Amino acid sequence: MISSQLLAYVAISAFCILNVSAMDTFIAAVYEHSVILPNATLNPASHEEALALMNQNLDVLEGAITSAAKQGAHIIVTPEDGIYGWVFTRETIYPYLEDIPDPQVNWIPCNDPSRFGHTPVQERLSCLAKKNSIYVVANIGDKKPCEANDPQCPTDGRYQYNTNVVFDSEGKLVARYHKQNIFMGEDQFNSPKKAEVVTFNTTFGKFGIFTCFDILFHDPAVILVKDFHVDTILFPTAWMNVLPHLSAVEFHSAWAMGMGVNFLAANIHHPLRKMTGSGIYAPDSPRAFHYDMKTEEGKLLLSELDSHLYRSVVNWSSYANSIEALSTGNQEFKGTVFFDNFTFMELKGVTGNYTVCHRDLCCHLSYKMSEKRSDEVYALGAFDGLHTVEGTYYLQICTMLKCGTTDLKTCGESVEAASTRFEMFSLSGTFGTQYVFPEVLLSEVQLAPGEFQVSSDGRLFSLKPTSGPVLTVTLFGRWYEKDWTSNASSELRAQALGLMISHSGL
Ligand SMILES: *[C@@H]1O[C@H](CO)[C@@H](O)[C@H](O)[C@H]1NC(C)=O
Ligand SMILES: *[C@@H]1O[C@H](CO)[C@@H](O)[C@H](O)[C@H]1NC(C)=O
Ligand SMILES: *[C@@H]1O[C@H](CO)[C@@H](O)[C@H](O)[C@H]1NC(C)=O
Ligand SMILES: *[C@@H]1O[C@H](CO)[C@@H](O)[C@H](O)[C@H]1NC(C)=O
Ligand SMILES: *[C@@H]1O[C@H](CO)[C@@H](O)[C@H](O)[C@H]1NC(C)=O
Ligand SMILES: *[C@@H]1O[C@H](CO)[C@@H](O)[C@H](O)[C@H]1NC(C)=O
Repeated sequence: MISSQLLAYVAISAFCILNVSAMDTFIAAVYEHSVILPNATLNPASHEEALALMNQNLDVLEGAITSAAKQGAHIIVTPEDGIYGWVFTRETIYPYLEDIPDPQVNWIPCNDPSRFGHTPVQERLSCLAKKNSIYVVANIGDKKPCEANDPQCPTDGRYQYNTNVVFDSEGKLVARYHKQNIFMGEDQFNSPKKAEVVTFNTTFGKFGIFTCFDILFHDPAVILVKDFHVDTILFPTAWMNVLPHLSAVEFHSAWAMGMGVNFLAANIHHPLRKMTGSGIYAPDSPRAFHYDMKTEEGKLLLSELDSHLYRSVVNWSSYANSIEALSTGNQEFKGTVFFDNFTFMELKGVTGNYTVCHRDLCCHLSYKMSEKRSDEVYALGAFDGLHTVEGTYYLQICTMLKCGTTDLKTCGESVEAASTRFEMFSLSGTFGTQYVFPEVLLSEVQLAPGEFQVSSDGRLFSLKPTSGPVLTVTLFGRWYEKDWTSNASSELRAQALGLMISHSGL
């Protein structure tokens, strides 16, 4: 009896596995959420007030989750800080935090809500996942008392973590990730001592997860792709757009292409703080994206993606190293792009071939504009150095961009609109790093799906004339090994610190 039941069970399981392993694609959803913020106050809210505010946000997220599930989505990502916002001190965020256990405990909060104390937010998220039979990704706060003998234990006796949680379609907690690279001003949270590499398997591929500012660093973002071979990254974020190179849709889609992964980015919607820009990005092209500085509305995006990816290898310097300098003897000039001192060259003709170098990086561009307008100037720029404002990270960047005005001093400024279309472009650079993220951004901060490609020898080139005027075409390289060995003078760091105080960002 028992053995025949077992046999039947095995047979059914095998059938299910065969059946589900045939799931070559899945439907992903991301929700850009216009978060309801708490009162900015120095006095902590009561637990009841905090929960009431979180439930207001969860009411909105419930609408998005239900709608995504009805449209067939298998997984939905919601933004970082999407349940309570970001305006906190260590003390004022405390009433919003819950103890989030290690997923190994095998817990379905919806079925067993009081197993780990008072955890109403995890219970509600779990029930939403279970009821709608969909994976739910959310960002909440974790609190962990410190060990008495821990020298790094904060004076208030606890660690507070910016935390992503994932509940599977039965409501089980399957992933917990504590954000590693805390952004400046995020003083309410601690970083874990060591970067956590969090993955989980599904019938529609292997997933990895990280948060916002983490995308600029090696641990854990690159490890997840390079060593753990995830197919899809889940990315809750509260991203403030910075043009020309770090607008959300632009940089996140570039990371997906550069790393060869699916990337599900859910941003906060808060135009006043330049937070907008969510998307579903496949390695070959964005599948859906949203950028809206005009309304206060949230937005649900859905798209089908491949469950399993086969990564092709790009040698980012091969082509650039194989050719001679293309220059036509234009004058170089200096310009600042988000605090970094680039070397530029103006694109003088309607068509041309140019090379510009900075330190060890030479950038080659061939292009043809639809027309050379007298009211717009474009430049080719190169930067090879340590960025030190709002974070310390080594960059190698080749960029063609539209200058602010026809005054060359404005090359590198934030520009949102342009009028010049390009018939073709081809950009490459003599990169020392293997981590390069290709960006193409059109006027009004729009992406250009299907209009460009990267070749295995490291050229970013157009497949057809651009569908809109161009803001920038960029190869954004990160040289992680150089973040701490390179030589920023103490004066430079002090200067950067001064700037940081007067500026806010990602
Ligand atoms: C914000 O202030 C309003 C009015 O004073 C109050 O009703 C509400 O509970 C407060 N919310 C939080 C989260 O403190
Ligand atoms: C995920 O699935 C792959 C392939 O089926 C397997 O090799 C791997 O061990 C699984 N990982 C986990 C964490 O279950
Ligand atoms: C890229 O190609 C160049 C030759 O074109 C070669 O010297 C270099 O080692 C290659 N880099 C990688 C990471 O394979
Ligand atoms: C940029 O570098 C040039 C030469 O290397 C220097 O003359 C100029 O002052 C620098 N500009 C800024 C803003 O640092
Ligand atoms: C740029 O280079 C291409 C091929 O290398 C050549 O066909 C074209 O004529 C050049 N354009 C200019 C303006 O020099
Ligand atoms: C840092 O700079 C100093 C002097 O400018 C130089 O002597 C030293 O070799 C540099 N170190 C590195 C790691 O580049």
